[in-house]
Amino acid sequence: MLALDRITKTFMAGQAAEVRALDDMNLTVADGDFVTVIGSNGAGKSTLLKTIVGLAMPESGRVMLDGRDITREPVHRRAGLFGRIAQDPNDSTCAGMTIEENLAMAAKRGQPRWLRQAVTPQLRESFRAALAETGLGLENRLDTRMGLLSGGQRQTIALLMATLAGPRLLLLDEHLAALDPKTAELVMGLTDRLVAERRLTTLMITHNMADAIRWGSRLVMMHRGRIIFEAAGSAKSELTVAGLVRKFHEAGSDLADDRLLLA
Ligand SMILES: Nc1ncnc2c1ncn2[C@@H]1O[C@H](COP(=O)(O)OP(=O)(O)OP(=O)(O)O)[C@@H](O)[C@H]1O
Ligand SMILES: [Mg+2]
Repeated sequence: MLALDRITKTFMAGQAAEVRALDDMNLTVADGDFVTVIGSNGAGKSTLLKTIVGLAMPESGRVMLDGRDITREPVHRRAGLFGRIAQDPNDSTCAGMTIEENLAMAAKRGQPRWLRQAVTPQLRESFRAALAETGLGLENRLDTRMGLLSGGQRQTIALLMATLAGPRLLLLDEHLAALDPKTAELVMGLTDRLVAERRLTTLMITHNMADAIRWGSRLVMMHRGRIIFEAAGSAKSELTVAGLVRKFHEAGSDLADDRLLLA
């Protein structure tokens, strides 16, 4: 369904600070895959997701989705294909708008701007139902501004927004990273449920190796802009955190000070 074919992305090309964020990288994702992605700081994980949605233009290689070459397609033209939560929590929801306005914006993506915030009673009811299912008591707070919510509540709304319009691919960039362990567990449970119920093909970046082993159907390890290891099915469920750390060491990464180890 998704194929990245020999993608190379360099930042600050030709300058002293040149970085090859993706280095001749290949990745194929099948319909229904739930892929967890781990990698040390700067491995190229966020750049991978940005390349898929069109926020980073690779200088070589192709991005294929359902057999269509979308490599050079502008962001707005492919936006409807993806539901994404960005690494910076402030990028996924609009703090100055209410819960309802945020959800409406996501539900009506692709429609003209003046239509996007008009909410019919049916749509409002569907928001309430979706919010009630999360168990956070937000269903009666549709008029509350996002900026007043806790981190976990905001990521929950971001998750609903990313899945509302029925995306072809769900892309999660460390959406649990800023949450306390108990809230992270809650939001992860909801993530897993939404992915299963809506049969969403998903890429989830995490710096928590135990989470990467526990959730999803496939695990991909990145290092210096490439995939250096992957596992699926029973080979994945038999992985251990110690085993993954060993893989990083074999690839020449000591992981000192890395958020992967701190988690
Ligand atoms: N816009 C940019 N300009 C310059 N360099 C960039 C830019 N975006 C990313 N980079 C560099 O590209 C490399 C890969 O960055 P990326 O954000 O993809 O890493 P990551 O795997 O997501 O890391 P982290 O775990 O810290 O989120 C890093 O060295 C980063 O500094
Ligand atoms: Mg990142």
